[in-house]
Amino acid sequence: MIPSLTNGQLLEAARRFGTPLYVYQADRITHQFQTLQQAFSGQLVRFFYAAKALTNLHILDHIRRIGADIDCSSINEVKLALQAGFNPTQILYTSNSVAFEEIEEARILGVHLNIDSLSNLEKFANAHPGNYPVGIRIRPDIMAGGNLQISTGHDRSKFGIALSDLPRVYQLVQEKKLWVRVLHIHTGSEIKDVDVFLKGLDLLLDLSAHFPQLEVIDLGGGFKVPYQEGEAGTDIPALAKGIEKKLSDYKNSGGKDLSIWFEPGKYFVAEAGNLLCTVNVIKRSGAIEFVGVDSGLNQLIRPMFYEAYHAIENISNPVGASQTYTVVGNICETDTFAEDRSLPQVREGDVLAIRNAGAYGFEMASSYNARFLPAEVMFRGGEMQLIRRRQTMEDLLLTQLPLKS
Ligand code: LLP
Repeated sequence: MIPSLTNGQLLEAARRFGTPLYVYQADRITHQFQTLQQAFSGQLVRFFYAAKALTNLHILDHIRRIGADIDCSSINEVKLALQAGFNPTQILYTSNSVAFEEIEEARILGVHLNIDSLSNLEKFANAHPGNYPVGIRIRPDIMAGGNLQISTGHDRSKFGIALSDLPRVYQLVQEKKLWVRVLHIHTGSEIKDVDVFLKGLDLLLDLSAHFPQLEVIDLGGGFKVPYQEGEAGTDIPALAKGIEKKLSDYKNSGGKDLSIWFEPGKYFVAEAGNLLCTVNVIKRSGAIEFVGVDSGLNQLIRPMFYEAYHAIENISNPVGASQTYTVVGNICETDTFAEDRSLPQVREGDVLAIRNAGAYGFEMASSYNARFLPAEVMFRGGEMQLIRRRQTMEDLLLTQLPLKS
């Protein structure tokens, strides 16, 4: 494991660029990717970073330079990936509930496509009989993931094509010459249990006989990373072994060589990110000591939206005597980052680091309460670089039309 950024580095970034501030450690992203590559070495595997976790162009550029591919969930993410220098053949577009025109736009750009609905698949088959390969996202009826909101494979989920609709898909393959190259599932986020991926693989292998042009099984993203101390993430080496075994059994029983694709988002970037904020106010209310910071749910929504746990450290007073605090934001909503959390004594002006904020942190931020989107900084090999400036009042007004005088 590579060492994390030091408190000194983080405080220096806060001093130079102010808070709230997202700070990313590029070397950590590299380490995560290398861990995946090592575990799966010798296997036909590709890792498409799920860009939805964090789309800053400098992060995308870094991910491209280290050799990963990229998975996009909107046409605009596809355009960002192209702008970051990815070649169309490195880009996968896994959309849901999009207009067919958006799939067409992506096809014209030459990227890989995973199609999520029977309706769009029918349109695609009619428009492109046998001349453009597609992936089909299947809803496997598997319940998995950290909580219901981030579970996508169960039988009430909006994602994918239901198993009961597969006979129609087989018809499209036979009658319309639909070229199915990839079978795809994504059952959820924060899946610790390796068996969930293996069960999904079994299911797709069982369907493979219906798809003579099948070359790839795409098992989606969802690797769990530890958020709490002592928590375990997905056992990647065990997953690699399990997949290798299943694919070799498949081959031994007459199947052909298939490659595996993954689309990890959190695994690449969650642990690489910190949200730094400054303590504005300490307020005692009955038994509760509130720490009010200069950020809020507008800049990191995960605790309020998913009841997600994020470790918090007082990096400007790390050795203070421990006390219990409730850390809250400055938004006119209940926006609690952490309840009854033990922290070294917190004083007004201290800088707190909210850990594991790289994935779905900045990316889900908004300018609610007319607050500015935070700046972003990337450390690479000890070098600190501002990779997004803080918003300004002019930015907030940019799309608003002026009042008539
Ligand atoms: N592939 C597909 C098709 C997905 O829908 C997702 C995530 C991923 C890959 C990447 O999943 P990951 O490896 O990051 O778990 N905002 C939530 C997570 C939502 C995930 C949505 N789809 C959170 O902050 O927990």
